[in-house]
Amino acid sequence: MKDKRTEADKREQDELKATCHIPGHIAIIMDGNGRWAKEKGLPRVGGHHAGVKSVRDAVEACAELGVNYLTLYAFSTENWGRPKEEVGALMSLLIHSLRKELKTLNDNNIRLHTIGNRDDLPDKVREELEQTIELTRQNTRMTLVLALSYSGRWDLTQAVKHIAEEVAEGRLSPDQIFAETISAHLSTRDIPDPDLMIRTSGEMRISNFLLWQLAYSELYITDCFWPDFRRPHLYEAIRSFSKRERRFGKVSEQLKPV
Ligand code: IPE
Ligand code: IPE
Ligand code: MG
Repeated sequence: MKDKRTEADKREQDELKATCHIPGHIAIIMDGNGRWAKEKGLPRVGGHHAGVKSVRDAVEACAELGVNYLTLYAFSTENWGRPKEEVGALMSLLIHSLRKELKTLNDNNIRLHTIGNRDDLPDKVREELEQTIELTRQNTRMTLVLALSYSGRWDLTQAVKHIAEEVAEGRLSPDQIFAETISAHLSTRDIPDPDLMIRTSGEMRISNFLLWQLAYSELYITDCFWPDFRRPHLYEAIRSFSKRERRFGKVSEQLKPV
């Protein structure tokens, strides 16, 4: 595998690995493509195209740092309500990018996985996704999870439906339903909860992302628009994460051995 990192980048990654706790799972709300384009006098779609480079950068850098899971919020359930032309352009970009980035995924030993309502996606997108998932199935270094036609409420709704079916069929009794049962019925069932959730473009909201799974994730929100998000921004987010004390409801003294 060819290492495309610069010497300076390698040094920065080594420093990060030596001094920071690298999150096992990073989730990103890639936001601000439209505003980035508007600032430059470009159509919104220009921002989506520019954002592909940021995706490649984040994916490669996370794999290099030893992140196990990277989840990217690429298209929400609510995004179907955008103008037809924008939705169409995003779907075409997705097909094109999957084809183009297959080599990047295999070169970096990254497996592709998706969450979201695949039934809503155009056939061509679904076929391309299935093919890329199949062609990266053996990869073991990192799992890239694309959230497509995804929303937290969709995920919880489909989980509740499946649990209700199991109860109705007598395979599960209501007193056997625990938080773990719900986690096990979500689309993220085999994936640990995110440790760090990054949102670009400064919006202070979750926008129906992983509602259940973000319960104890550390949040990092940057004003940077997604097409401008590069390795140094990611490293800064990891540095910030590393300084946090994750108490999970306990008190500091319980966390540190005295
Ligand atoms: C994020 O950028 C990409 C998607 C939601 C698909 P936006 O398109 O939401 O950009 P802004 O938020 O309008 O700037
Ligand atoms: C969230 O961004 C969805 C994705 C990044 C895919 P939006 O731009 O859709 O969110 P809102 O509308 O600002 O909340
Ligand atoms: Mg947006």
